[in-house]
Amino acid sequence: MDISGNTIFIPGSTSGIGLALAQRLQAKGNTVIIGGRRTELLDQLAAEHGFDTVRIDTADADSIRAAAAEVIAKHPDLNVVVTMAGIMRVEDWHHPDGFLSSAEETVTTNLLGPIRLVAAFIEHLRTRPDATIVTVSSGLAFAPLAATPSYNASKAAIHMLSESLRLQLADTSVKVVELEPPSVRTALLPGQEDSDFAMPLDEFADEVIKLFESQPDATEIQVENVKFLRYGEARGDYEQVVATLNAADPHGKH
Ligand SMILES: NC(=O)c1ccc[n+]([C@@H]2O[C@H](COP(=O)([O-])OP(=O)(O)OC[C@H]3O[C@@H](n4cnc5c(N)ncnc54)[C@H](OP(=O)(O)O)[C@@H]3O)[C@@H](O)[C@H]2O)c1
Repeated sequence: MDISGNTIFIPGSTSGIGLALAQRLQAKGNTVIIGGRRTELLDQLAAEHGFDTVRIDTADADSIRAAAAEVIAKHPDLNVVVTMAGIMRVEDWHHPDGFLSSAEETVTTNLLGPIRLVAAFIEHLRTRPDATIVTVSSGLAFAPLAATPSYNASKAAIHMLSESLRLQLADTSVKVVELEPPSVRTALLPGQEDSDFAMPLDEFADEVIKLFESQPDATEIQVENVKFLRYGEARGDYEQVVATLNAADPHGKH
């Protein structure tokens, strides 16, 4: 993906990684439309940064369809969609009360959401000469954190969905790029914004932009910190990676 001159919609950019990338992509000469459920925050970010905004709940099929129609009508040049919205919940799978509703919510937001977003935008993106779908998986797609089974599974599914779509859409103008963040200091989990284990948000977002710039044909965006999780199996130290990940995790002790 070229780093400038795009019109980019990021559902899930009212905070965290989405917002940090929205600011940097706008500064690089892209038109950025931010989306999320928190309308007050959308209004505030529009006033502060000049983003166009769209209210969207990616756990709701009707909201996705309505938001897509609005974005495409206002921005016919739209050529990039980043399926950023996601949630992460600590679960206890010893009893259904400890996980079932969380698991359903996680799959709806983290997997069905991106699937529905692709469905809502694919016909439009195919009309653009140079289009990109950016999916967002995680280092946890490649090594499991014991505390968050549904999250890990949803992100592993996003990895394989990205791989599959890239193959199937190879005969179109639409590229598929998977962003694979490591642990980053955001509000994704309680306490994560102050975690020593997680990467500072600005440092992560700067490295991502540099990778987009230096590797315009990359299919996976991997900052250095994610490679420990991403390549454990290929290196042959997967079991050690899983042990280290879970020993370091404060959420694994519930
Ligand atoms: N931080 C990490 O360590 C890390 C690591 C790997 C992957 N990721 C992935 O990065 C993405 C962004 O997470 P983050 O760390 O930046 O966390 P965050 O600060 O909590 O941001 C999550 C974003 O998703 C939006 N969102 C959540 N549910 C939504 C829904 N139903 N509809 C619309 N928007 C929704 C939120 O907006 P509203 O609340 O306004 O709707 C918010 O903008 C997620 O997919 C996450 O899984 C994060």
